[in-house]
Amino acid sequence: MKIITGSPGTGKHTIARIIAEKNCLDLVDINRIAIVEEIVEKGSDALDVDVKKLGKILDRKISKNTLFVGHLAPYVVSRNKVECAVVLRRSPYNLEKVYAKRGYSKKKSVENLGSEILGVTYYDTIKNIGPKKTFQFDTTSESIKETVKRIERLFVKGRAREDSVDWLKTVSKKGDLKRFFPY
Ligand SMILES: Nc1ncnc2c1ncn2[C@@H]1O[C@H](COP(=O)(O)OP(=O)(O)O)[C@@H](O)[C@H]1O
Ligand SMILES: [Mg+2]
Repeated sequence: MKIITGSPGTGKHTIARIIAEKNCLDLVDINRIAIVEEIVEKGSDALDVDVKKLGKILDRKISKNTLFVGHLAPYVVSRNKVECAVVLRRSPYNLEKVYAKRGYSKKKSVENLGSEILGVTYYDTIKNIGPKKTFQFDTTSESIKETVKRIERLFVKGRAREDSVDWLKTVSKKGDLKRFFPY
């Protein structure tokens, strides 16, 4: 089983849908399952889910051909079943605009931007799935087509050149730490 994860707005669902269709993978949208199974109420914060309960339900959906997508992926799948995990990354300056368009509250936006800047999902994927199986891709200045191509190559070959990402350095250099970490 493979997973695509990352902060909201990094392109997970767009990419996963295309890759699943082109490669005949069974796409499992973790957010959707959480709602359908009534583990999380629609509209509530998706991070407040019972990950143990969700993990048990998702476990039954796993096969060799499954592609899991969602920001919760590293917390709800068993490590030994994952072949490889893709973490999509995107500059906080771009994400900020995406969140504004989506109408996120100031609080939700700041939380997600802070998490992306610190690389929380990447760190947790390495910790929970393992460093050898974790690959991060920066989609900031890449077309959808290019990102799809890179991930397909990884899925076929099992390895890839990763991007190095250090948003903390980027925002520090621009003097924007206060802006992204206001509290
Ligand atoms: N290289 C890229 N990969 C994925 N999405 C991209 C890329 N470039 C631009 N986008 C755009 O970014 C948005 C990502 O939204 P979405 O797939 O819903 O993200 P997520 O599921 O991570 O919240 C889409 O509007 C998509 O068209
Ligand atoms: Mg999404």
